[in-house]
Amino acid sequence: APLPTVVDIEQSAREKLSEFAWGYYSHPEDGQTYRDNIEAFKRYRLIPRNLRDVSIRDTSVTVLGTRMDIPIAIGPTAYHRLAHPDAELATVKGAAAMNTGMVLSSWANHSLEEVAETTPPGIRWFYMMFYKDRGRMKRLLGRAERAGYTAIFLTVDQPFFRFNIDPRPVTFPVPIRLPNIFDEEPPHAPGSVEHLEYLRAALKQPATWDDVQWIRDNTRLPVVLKGILSVEDAKMAVACGVNGICVSNHGGRQLDGVPATIDVLPDIFRAVGGKAEVYLDGGIRTGTDVLKALALGARCVFIGRPALWGLAHNGAEGVSQVLRILRDEFSLAMARAGCAKVADITSSLVVHESYYLY
Ligand code: FNR
Repeated sequence: APLPTVVDIEQSAREKLSEFAWGYYSHPEDGQTYRDNIEAFKRYRLIPRNLRDVSIRDTSVTVLGTRMDIPIAIGPTAYHRLAHPDAELATVKGAAAMNTGMVLSSWANHSLEEVAETTPPGIRWFYMMFYKDRGRMKRLLGRAERAGYTAIFLTVDQPFFRFNIDPRPVTFPVPIRLPNIFDEEPPHAPGSVEHLEYLRAALKQPATWDDVQWIRDNTRLPVVLKGILSVEDAKMAVACGVNGICVSNHGGRQLDGVPATIDVLPDIFRAVGGKAEVYLDGGIRTGTDVLKALALGARCVFIGRPALWGLAHNGAEGVSQVLRILRDEFSLAMARAGCAKVADITSSLVVHESYYLY
């Protein structure tokens, strides 16, 4: 039988997830950007180097000073409880088993402390939202620092949350907690009208560069901006003193019609000029996608939906399985491309298909 692929895990998840969860996780599957993220990788071709000793491959990388076994980590996604009763506790276990990291979403269904207790110290990242009350942000940063988180991710491509655009309340098919948004259990159910009103009042929508600068100045942790697509924003991020930039279009869930992330990565990598680490997410489904992203400047990549599919497929083990599939494909692709270590993966490995037109 052929080895399982990420697409097989997606199929299994589709059968296991409730209609509600599948719809929420996939949306907007018919979006142009969602499709383009995946298809754009296929428009880059690899030019391998042969006759090199690739008998042993080292797939490890260092991200923000911490070594990971693979250049593939898990990005922040909301509501893992929709995929599995153990929610983020299972996802983070799956990541830790592969010695890689996960960015915990503020919309997680377990508290950042509970998630930290589940994994050995090491790679722990927290995606914090922007709040109007800076005292509240200060307290949240303090919680993340005390719990041993090693970086703060700020998502900058979401000026408004869904409930500002679509104010309808949501009824979740399973019990949902949001312990990183509410200090105590809220008096109203997540998804209710009162809850949406509360969020509207508390969140800074839209956040601006002042908010980024304030956070940069008020935590000792590295700060990563997630959702950068333009060279100008990348330069402003560097000027703010951020430590990392994740080239991302939110998996096609924000402005539809923006470029695939892999298509803008090279220009952003050049503009940043080594002053911050550069990562990429969106559309990573195979090991060769990872290889191409690294060749074009990403230090590591993040997966969103594939981790959720693994979680739905088989809990922590399913998450590990997705990472293992990507690692094995990546390692084999490295061998066939003539790369024994990640530093051997250079831009000369990749050409865009338009190359043939020259
Ligand atoms: C997301 N994403 C996201 N991003 C973020 O910064 N904070 C969040 O809470 C969420 N929540 C979220 C929920 C779901 C269901 C999805 C699918 C995505 C975006 C995510 O971090 C990432 O950018 C994309 O998922 C990457 O694309 P792929 O890997 O899903 O193709």
